[in-house]
Amino acid sequence: VLSLASESDADWVSRVSHDWSTLLVDHAHCEKKAASTAINLIFRYQVFPELMAPLSAHAREELAHFELVLELLQARGVPFGPLEPSPYAVWLHREIRSEEPFRLLDTLLVCALIEARSCERMRLLADGLADGELARLYRGLLASEARHHTLFVDLATGRFGRQAVMERLGVLAEHEARVVAAMPEEVRMHSRGAYSG
Ligand SMILES: [Fe+2]
Ligand SMILES: [Fe+2]
Repeated sequence: VLSLASESDADWVSRVSHDWSTLLVDHAHCEKKAASTAINLIFRYQVFPELMAPLSAHAREELAHFELVLELLQARGVPFGPLEPSPYAVWLHREIRSEEPFRLLDTLLVCALIEARSCERMRLLADGLADGELARLYRGLLASEARHHTLFVDLATGRFGRQAVMERLGVLAEHEARVVAAMPEEVRMHSRGAYSG
């Protein structure tokens, strides 16, 4: 079960599907960022050995997703390149407390929420895209994203206990819902996606 406090609006898919190349390039960046976040956690929290192997496996899986999206971009003749980051993750990270152990708890739960939102939107894309190849890509990926959501909740629960995790997850999920609602109107995995072209 995903812990999101809001649902994406029903026409999000029809808006982002007008610009599938931006959606895919942005998606590639999201996979790359997910891998790099996991690797950063491995460096920062080496004192917690139980986090190492799960985060390492997670980083590899996100890099495999990155390569999958790169392949599709190449097959469609769309170059991968820099893209200004969506403010979604930046705004989410503002709720992460700077002192430990809260920093670790909040970081794991923000990762869980990002995975949950990706999973929710991939399901919308899998069900709603007329482009069969893209719909298949998202159908293939959404199960992993649901698993990733659970992974981060479980890692947090292992260290902080279920009650602390559920309380803070509720607060951060409300924040995440406000961030999604306030996103600029652009074609992104994590935007409101009110694309007018
Ligand atoms: Fe992924
Ligand atoms: Fe993921």
